[in-house]
Amino acid sequence: MILSKFVNELPIPPVLKPRRKDQFHTYYKVNMTEFKQSLHIELNDTKVWGYEGSYPGPTIEVESGEKVVIKWTNNLPAKHLLPVDYTVHGAHLDVPEVRTVVHVHGASVEPESDGYPEAWFTRGFKQVGPYFRKKVYQYDNNMQACTLWYHDHTLGITRLNIYAGLAGFYLIRDHRERLLNLPCGQYEIPLIIQDKSFNEDGSLFYPRQPEKPVPQLETSIVPEFFGNTILVNGKVWPFLNVEPRKYRFRLLNGSNSRFYRFKLDSGQLIYQIGTDGGLMEYPIGMKEIILAPAERADVIIDFTNLEGKNIILKNDAPAPFPDGEPENVVDTVMEIRVTLPLLSIDTSVIPSYMKPFPKMSEQSASKERHLTLDEKSDKYGREIMLLDGKGWGAPITEYPKVGSTEVWYLINLTDDSHPIHIHLIHFQVLDRRAFNVEIYKKERVIQYTGPLMPPEPQERGWKDTVNANPNEVTRIIMTFGPYTGLYVWHCHMLEHEDYEMMRPYIVIR
Ligand code: C2O
Ligand code: CU
Repeated sequence: MILSKFVNELPIPPVLKPRRKDQFHTYYKVNMTEFKQSLHIELNDTKVWGYEGSYPGPTIEVESGEKVVIKWTNNLPAKHLLPVDYTVHGAHLDVPEVRTVVHVHGASVEPESDGYPEAWFTRGFKQVGPYFRKKVYQYDNNMQACTLWYHDHTLGITRLNIYAGLAGFYLIRDHRERLLNLPCGQYEIPLIIQDKSFNEDGSLFYPRQPEKPVPQLETSIVPEFFGNTILVNGKVWPFLNVEPRKYRFRLLNGSNSRFYRFKLDSGQLIYQIGTDGGLMEYPIGMKEIILAPAERADVIIDFTNLEGKNIILKNDAPAPFPDGEPENVVDTVMEIRVTLPLLSIDTSVIPSYMKPFPKMSEQSASKERHLTLDEKSDKYGREIMLLDGKGWGAPITEYPKVGSTEVWYLINLTDDSHPIHIHLIHFQVLDRRAFNVEIYKKERVIQYTGPLMPPEPQERGWKDTVNANPNEVTRIIMTFGPYTGLYVWHCHMLEHEDYEMMRPYIVIR
């Protein structure tokens, strides 16, 4: 099925209204339901899952330090929209098929409200997972302005729940950001980019059978899923009309496994001003921006003097990344049309300086951990990815101390890049370095084969997800806290996360 490009206007998700607000807290209620929505004009309406009747979910906007309380409720049907694989951890036949739990990605949150994968709940809280602690989640938002997102995190079906539509933006704002005079209001647009495929009848396609299915089981997990269309804010290949002026875009890769390398076909620069964790020190002009699943880039694009131009946002990242098949590339994302008249003089700026970025020093670390990313095959001959050779159920091995700083060596022994995400904290990327994988596999020693590579310019800011490339050691540094308790770290390619490439960890006192 071939869908026309640029025939649907880009939707902008609504901003969620609080139920009430008092001097201490802001209260929200967010309900998950199944409904039909038009994802492309040539497609029948598609059954999706969303928050508050919207896919993507409404944008939650909070102020830095604002105490927010959210009751997430599940009103989804008992049967899943997509094929569940019952051989995958946490999704066996002994649990209800439709389970949900919400995680605010990149937020510093107490463990009981962090959306632990086994803290799931079913419709009306009828059944809950073994780690369920509370119905109403609390977010203190003690963070600087940044681009976060919320999404489902249920053990064994995260890939299906997010693919069905359970994701939305969560933006933290602060005073310092407002002083910068960035493009705002209607000139600030969040863009969640996701790949999907469709059946002829307009329903979502997700593979039932991979090449190596499990005998006797109709459905089975695929190593990665790549869709053949790109959706932005829930529309396939949309267009956006803009004025000839500056715009701020929050780019979020909300795809299951696809990486993007974005580029404007006009050849103009994209000015990146922020990373996962907030504003950078200086903006950087980029010809292309690479985003792994779950990564965000806060950018400004200037359309001044481009009246009448149509600009296409392109992608040329192979899938899987970085050495995947060229036929898996979907090269178009959306079109931007500079067709609107300039409403008023553009006084917003691309600041020359935004805020200090104090570099963490390796000397401040009290512990180093060597952690491998491994590729194995399971008992059915399917590909399975692990962290440090362990699955989800193995005893916990990472117990960082609250307030302590650690350096993690992500030693990638696989052929793919993996976006590694750690809950609770933001980290800095120290460096990357090529090493000899064969020697490591035999002797467990790192023999470097290349020079130390500094983080990419686009990574010189606070991060919560880092791309660990094949044949490289990626080093990150972070201080754990302020909360103690049980969290997770994992690969954010959802097919990997759902099939053992996720580990619990505990911040101890
Ligand atoms: Cu975006 Cu553990 O998640
Ligand atoms: Cu992975």
